[in-house]
Amino acid sequence: MRIDVVSIFPEYLAALDLSLIGKARRENLLDLSVHDLRDFTHDRHRTVDDTPYGGGAGMVMKPGPWGSALSRIAAESPVTGAMVDKPILIVPAPAGAVFDQQMAYDLATAPHLVFACGRYEGIDERVLEHAEEDFDVRPVSIGDYVLNGGEVAVLAMVEAIGRLIPGVIGNPESLVEESHSDGLLEYPVYTKPGSWEGREVPEVLLSGNHNKIARFRRNKQLERTAARRPDLIVELDPATLNRHDRDT
Ligand code: ADE
Repeated sequence: MRIDVVSIFPEYLAALDLSLIGKARRENLLDLSVHDLRDFTHDRHRTVDDTPYGGGAGMVMKPGPWGSALSRIAAESPVTGAMVDKPILIVPAPAGAVFDQQMAYDLATAPHLVFACGRYEGIDERVLEHAEEDFDVRPVSIGDYVLNGGEVAVLAMVEAIGRLIPGVIGNPESLVEESHSDGLLEYPVYTKPGSWEGREVPEVLLSGNHNKIARFRRNKQLERTAARRPDLIVELDPATLNRHDRDT
């Protein structure tokens, strides 16, 4: 997969050199480049923002530098004009569709993702309209709160998407049983020692009875999800539940 990130703070994205995502880059599973938006300005001050038409607080990102940056990235995209799909342009913004695990799965199969990190009050709307010519444009929010810019949202999304690329996680089994993979939160986990600060590991986990362990874990998933995220229980497809689930 190819990923391009455009930002006025490329240093923010340095964390993408670390851990599993950094390793995926070094192993060429992920071809990720970060671009400084100011490299696409043409004035002495490398200006990227200006006052909003219509008045109001704050500054708006100018269209010119964004247009140049996105044209260059589109021209160099591995997704060519001959292909039906365009590269996907993700614009992190609190006014976007909310990012979730399903969106991460969908995006993990795309050949080319581009992230446009806005700052200030946002990017001139015409940039997104114009970009529709070359990209599948998707404003995306990582939650109902406001960040100072898109960079932190990109760190979260690239990590969530990147770990789903085949080969990035050593043991793909761990992707099967994690929170949200089946619409439920993950069960609690324990390791040695068996007794710690007077607290014991649940006995069933020491029993060696795989059916009982699976039932215990499934019950914990259901209990946890009902207590912490009742909204997820409402969304569950009843067809995915079995008789034992209903008794929980
Ligand atoms: N930029 C500012 N706030 C954001 C959010 N909640 N999600 C994505 N990008 C943002």
